[in-house]
Amino acid sequence: MTDSYVAAIDQGTTSSRCIIFDQNGEIVAVDQREHRQMFPKPGWVEHDATELWSKVQAVVAGALANAGMRADQLSALGITNQRETTLLWDRRTGRPVHNAIVWQDTRTAGLCEQLGGEYGQDRFRDRTGLPLASYFSGPKVVWLLDNVPGLRERARAGEIAFGTIDSWLIWNLTGGTDGGVHVTDVTNAGRTMLMNLETLQWDASILSAMDIPEAVLPEIRSSAEVYGTAVGQLAGVPVASALGDQQAAVFGQTCYRVGEAKNTYGTGSFLLLNTGTRPVPSKNGLLTTMGYQLGSERPVYCLEGSIAITGALVQWFRDQLGIISTADDIEPLAARVEDNGGAYIVPAFSGLFAPYWRSDARGVITGLTRYVTKAHLARAVLEATSWQTREVVDAMYEDSEVEIRTLKVDGGMTANNLLMQHQSDVLGVPVIRPVVAETTCLGAAYAAGLATGVWSDMDELRAQWRQDAEWTPRMDVGTRDREYANWRKAVRRSFGWEE
Ligand code: G3P
Repeated sequence: MTDSYVAAIDQGTTSSRCIIFDQNGEIVAVDQREHRQMFPKPGWVEHDATELWSKVQAVVAGALANAGMRADQLSALGITNQRETTLLWDRRTGRPVHNAIVWQDTRTAGLCEQLGGEYGQDRFRDRTGLPLASYFSGPKVVWLLDNVPGLRERARAGEIAFGTIDSWLIWNLTGGTDGGVHVTDVTNAGRTMLMNLETLQWDASILSAMDIPEAVLPEIRSSAEVYGTAVGQLAGVPVASALGDQQAAVFGQTCYRVGEAKNTYGTGSFLLLNTGTRPVPSKNGLLTTMGYQLGSERPVYCLEGSIAITGALVQWFRDQLGIISTADDIEPLAARVEDNGGAYIVPAFSGLFAPYWRSDARGVITGLTRYVTKAHLARAVLEATSWQTREVVDAMYEDSEVEIRTLKVDGGMTANNLLMQHQSDVLGVPVIRPVVAETTCLGAAYAAGLATGVWSDMDELRAQWRQDAEWTPRMDVGTRDREYANWRKAVRRSFGWEE
């Protein structure tokens, strides 16, 4: 057997990363770079898509250099990305017409209310699996078409392309203005609020309700197939997968069976449960979403609990409050005390996502007394992540009656033992971390490798998954229930702040 290598690009909310994997799914080389976060107004979050593309090119070059490899040694390239972040660009010049509007941005909250009108937040839920919320791309496209002068006319004339970040990268990787392919995959398209979950095509009635011209849209393809061949520094490498980052993590964690779930702790946290080849509607504030589709195979669906702010709360504690100087400092600070001292922090910075979907929610700190120290607050920061996850797990049980017996976890915050222990405590189930914690890139690499014959089937991938660490519940049930009730009381205090 000759060695095969697959590269994956993960264009995330705070940074871009390229990882090269060998055939055993082991990491050969990594490179990563951060990009600017722009906050032009309260609640607005933007990225410069040109900067994202140049950071991606830099990390590809960096990973190849770190591996001591040439592009022609790569069998395939997979793409994974921050989802929902919305971009429109000029097809002729290749230039974005505006900064990308990031998934966390709440500028479309009022627009979503208008779009809901008499039908309310669930107007498009039966077709898209999603509530009308500022999180998703469709309303962001509407905002751009309404606010960039002359854009709707240019869009109607076919001059403008819309894409989530996967489309933007694939278009640039395959030639850009010189023949780049304009595609997206089902997992990304499914987060625009414009794709019908059953047909896997753009939904004409939603496009018309939002007045979005069809001419801007990419072609929807499966998550694992060759979309085109890269040019430039990756010349000749097949671009062979695209998955939203959370779906890529499902794939990398090998959650291929119904009932298997993973939680990824990044800027936010996203818990996805594989529900099989039929979409399961949610009655409890979860999203019905695509899991993955491999070539012409039947698509796999998930229920998703999306939590907007988890890791970003640690960043806020570091950057805005200055209580710690690095994110790693939070664990030793929190470990100085036994508990949260009665304090709870609800990080509703972008409203609250699952299971509430309240754009009028804003962050609150409750339970303060003079007893509370910065160490208690550090604990409250970490506990906000595990309590939000608990609420999502409860909703998942209500919707699917699938009891999550163990939770596979990944992402940066899983390095925090105190948090992982608390997560296991409040869920009352074991929490398990795999050896390859970079499951997002791994999932994109797996899908690209399946599409190009590097791996023969999913059993081969499943056999590569290995456990690294496990946390089991220690908290007594009385404490857990009392603290959960406090948490929920704090959440209610976060409602109703929008001006
Ligand atoms: O839906 C948003 C999600 O895809 C962002 O993930 O890891 O970039 O924060 P991340």
